[in-house]
Amino acid sequence: MSATRAEIGVRAKRAASFLAITGGLLGVGLLALPDVAYPWMKALHVLGVISWMAGMLYLPRLFVNHCGVAIGSEASEIFKGMEFRLLRYIINPAMVASWVAGLWIAIRMHFFVDGWFHAKLALVLALSAAHGYFAKAVADFGRDEGRRDHRYWRFMNEVPTLIMIFVVILVIVKPF
Ligand code: HEM
Repeated sequence: MSATRAEIGVRAKRAASFLAITGGLLGVGLLALPDVAYPWMKALHVLGVISWMAGMLYLPRLFVNHCGVAIGSEASEIFKGMEFRLLRYIINPAMVASWVAGLWIAIRMHFFVDGWFHAKLALVLALSAAHGYFAKAVADFGRDEGRRDHRYWRFMNEVPTLIMIFVVILVIVKPF
């Protein structure tokens, strides 16, 4: 039996209270206990970055296959669902987690004065722009508009790959 409007309202209020209390406690913990929070934020950063990159490398591969099937076909509708869910439930939250945790670490460790961090920030901004462009492509594919051929998406697939290689070298080797 489906829930009534009133029941949905009560559940939504409970979920909002849970999120507000958990978020508040986490916020207080991050401010009051930065030494304890540091390794947890680093773990969150690495988890976020792995998930973000996995999605950013897989999404253009879906586009490569999607543009090879006929508009209106069953396969095309399946690709639309896969692209939408990958973006909505993996790529978007992973990008937010990477940014929040990365900026928290940078502020805490005073990395804003370092050359390697400026270069990393520029590359991560470029990655975020690519993310926005891919999100637009998901919307275009969803409306069967603005299609490009598989060669274009194979080329675009290399953009996050190249950015990832330089970002990891910058943050681990810190050459300048
Ligand atoms: C979204 C914006 C990002 C910010 C603000 C940011 C910031 C940071 C900071 C401040 C650190 C700590 C560096 C250290 O302790 O030496 C770090 C570590 C790291 N970041 Fe990011 N980052 C971002 C995105 C990324 C991306 C997109 C990748 C990968 C493609 C990445 C890969 C890494 C790696 C591999 C580490 C090393 C973790 C470790 O030392 O254990 N980051 N990041």
